[in-house]
Amino acid sequence: MSSMPGIRLNDGRTIPQLRFGVFQIAPSDTARAVSEAFEAGYRHIDTAEMYGNEREVGEAVRASGLERDAVFVTSKLSNAFHRPDDARRAFDATLTDLGFDHVDLFLIHWPLPTLYDGDFVSTWRVLEEFQRDGRTRSIGVSNFEIGHLERLAAETDTLPAVNQIEVHPYFPNDAVRAYGQEHGIVTEAWAPLAQGEVMKDPAISAIATRLGRSPSQVVLRWHVQRGDVVFPKTSSPARMRENLDLFEFELGPDDMAALAALQQGAAGRIGPHPDTFAWVPD
Ligand SMILES: NC(=O)c1ccc[n+]([C@@H]2O[C@H](COP(=O)([O-])OP(=O)(O)OC[C@H]3O[C@@H](n4cnc5c(N)ncnc54)[C@H](OP(=O)(O)O)[C@@H]3O)[C@@H](O)[C@H]2O)c1
Repeated sequence: MSSMPGIRLNDGRTIPQLRFGVFQIAPSDTARAVSEAFEAGYRHIDTAEMYGNEREVGEAVRASGLERDAVFVTSKLSNAFHRPDDARRAFDATLTDLGFDHVDLFLIHWPLPTLYDGDFVSTWRVLEEFQRDGRTRSIGVSNFEIGHLERLAAETDTLPAVNQIEVHPYFPNDAVRAYGQEHGIVTEAWAPLAQGEVMKDPAISAIATRLGRSPSQVVLRWHVQRGDVVFPKTSSPARMRENLDLFEFELGPDDMAALAALQQGAAGRIGPHPDTFAWVPD
């Protein structure tokens, strides 16, 4: 693994704090983007069955010449496959598409509490099975609210190592993060740049100008100092490097507070609410 900071997970493993996300990167562009991310210094790639580009992520890992153990790869279960036997088949397909014998982290992508009779617990038990047989090193969830996490805690043997949720200055998602902190579940911040919106914010631009940094670096540094795993998406190699260059400066308490003050409550959420989201791919 590179010199990038790592965060300890509740299963004893370590996860690189900065990673490269490939949501909305077309399959035809993914291998190039991931290769450029490796060149820029990323060693942690976030994909998902529903992104349709696992095959190309695997190709880029093989083409990189990096040892498999030098790269941390996360993927996620499709919303279509929560039933245990479907999840088993889908995970086989994930490993086949990636061309790996294991992933580093596998997540339930959405809880879907209005589908499958509200049963994400049996899905979680299948992920525990994948971890026991060594085909994923760590297991976690994505878009789980506190109630969903409490159910897993009450009804299963393993707490998720991570919860990947929407987090950015307009929607800091602090209640779910606090639950994670109390229970040893690492928060991974998706849409860390509010899908590009924060770059236009005058309060962030003012801090960036004062520190001689870019707005994206200020926001990503805020995430890093909050202790979350963070993974901005970009198709540009120059921005990939810019988004990694976060360790030569620090935000003081006033700057951290100024970013916290940008939160907009529920109105700041960009993505769907996990309690009601029920989209399933064909
Ligand atoms: N678990 C989930 O349900 C879920 C949901 C959504 C996303 N995610 C994950 O989160 C990752 C990131 O989220 P996201 O793609 O939604 O949003 P994001 O990373 O917050 O923002 C991406 C946008 O910011 C722009 N950008 C990135 N770096 C920049 C820079 N240095 N300067 C200026 N603009 C910059 C990108 O433009 P260019 O590409 O043009 O540079 C793109 O338009 C995804 O790739 C995915 O892996 C997970």
